[in-house]
Amino acid sequence: MAKQALILYYSQFNTTAKVASQIHQLTGADILRIRVADKTFPNDMTATDKIYRKQRASGQLPNLTTKLPDLSYYDVLLVGGPVWDGQISSPIMKLLVQLQGYQGLVAPFSTGWSDTGNYQQDFIAHAGKLTIGPGYHVLTHVNPHFSPVTLASWLRKL
Ligand SMILES: Cc1cc2nc3c(=O)[nH]c(=O)nc-3n(C[C@H](O)[C@H](O)[C@H](O)COP(=O)(O)O)c2cc1C
Repeated sequence: MAKQALILYYSQFNTTAKVASQIHQLTGADILRIRVADKTFPNDMTATDKIYRKQRASGQLPNLTTKLPDLSYYDVLLVGGPVWDGQISSPIMKLLVQLQGYQGLVAPFSTGWSDTGNYQQDFIAHAGKLTIGPGYHVLTHVNPHFSPVTLASWLRKL
């Protein structure tokens, strides 16, 4: 991937953060963690899920507290987040709204426990006018686990 890339990621429990950091080490790409205001989500999966379902149903997405840099500098955005109910998390939904107008390639990556579900399709469904590339989806509780080889092969496609 001989392009200017920016890794943008949301991570509630730091799993996606670890993959983002490995991508950063492998590529040397810039990296920025997307955050929401404190107390937006509880420290618990079931309670987070309740809030998430309400947000999706109402369209009231959480505010992002991270300011995005000038994105026109980058050819590729690598956008990472957790799988929530087989879909993209609400912070990533909000990020995709804020990325509208970006002209480069956007490639998703995700982490989930055991089922990626419809993550890639849901990402595309919320991408509006963005150009979406192939995704890299890692599961932590079933094989195959994350490996630098599969990561490198994804990055070569971009
Ligand atoms: C609300 C919610 C829904 C989830 N739904 C799924 C799911 O559908 N499939 C799955 O494999 N993992 C699911 N998980 C587990 C997370 O995707 C997994 O722990 C992820 O690696 C967390 O990443 P993070 O630490 O970067 O937030 C869910 C977690 C939460 C909080």
